[in-house]
Amino acid sequence: MVKGKFITFEGGEGVGKSTQVKILAKKLTDQNIDVVLTREPGGSPGAEEIRTLLVKGSTDKWSPMTEALLHNAARAEHLSKTIKPALEAGKWVLSDRYADSTLAYQGYGQGVELQILLEMHKVATGDFWPDITIILDGHELDRANAREQESMDKEDRYERMGDAFHKKLQESFLDIAKNNPDRCVVVSAKGSIEDVADRIWQAVEGKIKA
Ligand code: TMP
Repeated sequence: MVKGKFITFEGGEGVGKSTQVKILAKKLTDQNIDVVLTREPGGSPGAEEIRTLLVKGSTDKWSPMTEALLHNAARAEHLSKTIKPALEAGKWVLSDRYADSTLAYQGYGQGVELQILLEMHKVATGDFWPDITIILDGHELDRANAREQESMDKEDRYERMGDAFHKKLQESFLDIAKNNPDRCVVVSAKGSIEDVADRIWQAVEGKIKA
């Protein structure tokens, strides 16, 4: 059976992931590729319900371990209801965040052991990883702006976790990329939206041809 590709976008807050994932989806659609655009936490009805538990409310409402389990529960649901059916139908799935966010936020950021998170990922997903992960590497310059926008619909729980936490994230993603060179490509988020989109396109083409 022809299987689609699974591409994820990762990075800190306000680096422009959501915009870039949509641009890549359009470029692939223009090449007659059937694309499913999705996100985490969320991406299926049940996982969206779990998302609400995670992205709203006080920053200390969950212990880091509970939080890691909730993200994995949402992911198991997202994978079985949205991602796998689409890939099996030959579609390409582009997801705004996936398991590397759990490693970065709950692992490096909130202190859950990485080895435990990797084991949890095996249980929740059968150790299912993307074909390609684009890690957008940018400074936090848009964070204040992002925080303002997110506060409006109150999905700002992680935004409120403080500067030290957020500083750690970008380094975490670079570390994850270093440890997974076959899957991950680091793309600079500097420059115009078009510049970044061009870099992403080159990275995706490079990985597909490799
Ligand atoms: P979003 O703002 O990119 O939609 O994601 C919601 C927040 O969830 C974001 O601040 C990152 C956080 N997150 C985790 O902490 N762990 C995870 O596994 C995922 C997927 C997201």
